[in-house]
Amino acid sequence: MTSYTLTINRQKIKVEAAADTPLLWVLRDELNLTGTKFGCGKALCGACTVHMNGSPIRSCAMPISAIRNAEITTIEGLASGNTLHKVQQAWLEEDVPQCGYCQSGQIMSAVALLEQNPKPTDTDIDAAMSGNICRCGTYTRIRKAIRRAAD
Ligand code: FES
Ligand code: FES
Repeated sequence: MTSYTLTINRQKIKVEAAADTPLLWVLRDELNLTGTKFGCGKALCGACTVHMNGSPIRSCAMPISAIRNAEITTIEGLASGNTLHKVQQAWLEEDVPQCGYCQSGQIMSAVALLEQNPKPTDTDIDAAMSGNICRCGTYTRIRKAIRRAAD
């Protein structure tokens, strides 16, 4: 076990973990940040998406030893106090989720997209979101919510 100091949702946090422990398990099991979900465990579905220095990463495939000095943001860190992030708000207004399991990963990918490209085309949206799978098929509403957040 090694001690790691991480910056998660703007807070410095110390954790003890084996070097190859995926960030996802540190978030969920050590820090109780359970908004980030486990889907495939193989970087294929996007359910575990968080931001590392503003870019979307698959936390199931990111060993804790690889994220020294990085800023991690999870779904729990998007809102400012009681004010939801504009993407979260758009998700509510478009009534996007069904079962909800994939949705925190979808939102994290959408936020990263809009930070890099505030006015994405549908092609841009499809490209940015293609790694986030939704078994409930909410893709049309996801696209509408991203367009709403961009307006
Ligand atoms: S659980 Fe990480 S990509 Fe599927
Ligand atoms: S809302 Fe159910 S998997 Fe996406």
